[in-house]
Amino acid sequence: MAIRPVLKMGHPVLRQVATPVVRFDHELQGLIGDMDETMRSLSGAGIAAPQIGVSQRVVIFEVRENPRYPHVSPVPYTVLINPELTPLGDEMDEGWEGCLSVPGMRGLVPRYHRLRYRGFDAQGAPFDRTVEGFHARVVQHEVDHLDGILYPQRIRDLRDFGFEDVLLTQMTPMPD
Ligand code: NI
Repeated sequence: MAIRPVLKMGHPVLRQVATPVVRFDHELQGLIGDMDETMRSLSGAGIAAPQIGVSQRVVIFEVRENPRYPHVSPVPYTVLINPELTPLGDEMDEGWEGCLSVPGMRGLVPRYHRLRYRGFDAQGAPFDRTVEGFHARVVQHEVDHLDGILYPQRIRDLRDFGFEDVLLTQMTPMPD
């Protein structure tokens, strides 16, 4: 396992549609290990394979309980491969997001409140979850990476995009 450099917004790999995983092999385990180590080294909530330069449909995410962010519910550690998302209902939430590929910035992004997602774990076993709130937001953000979309493209009003250190003094925590 290794910490890999994270590509930043503007890099062409981040704009590509990633290809599905076909083999759940040793190479895939190595990729997941590198993603894991890279995400943890940067205290990220999630990472997608294209962010370390691998254009394959693999994301991982995890949000632990953090007393600094009591309004954010924990999200279990998840490896999600070849995901399929189905929004449930039309309800959208606006929430502040950041991204390891857009360091130092935050933006207010609309996401479906509730969704179902399906995919495969690291061993190739299928799973199926229905989630809402922050968990649903994290999944939508990470899966967007697989379609070449970064969160700034989803911001409705670019006045709601700025530097984290400036915005943090003004943000209202989003309950979920
Ligand atoms: Ni991201």
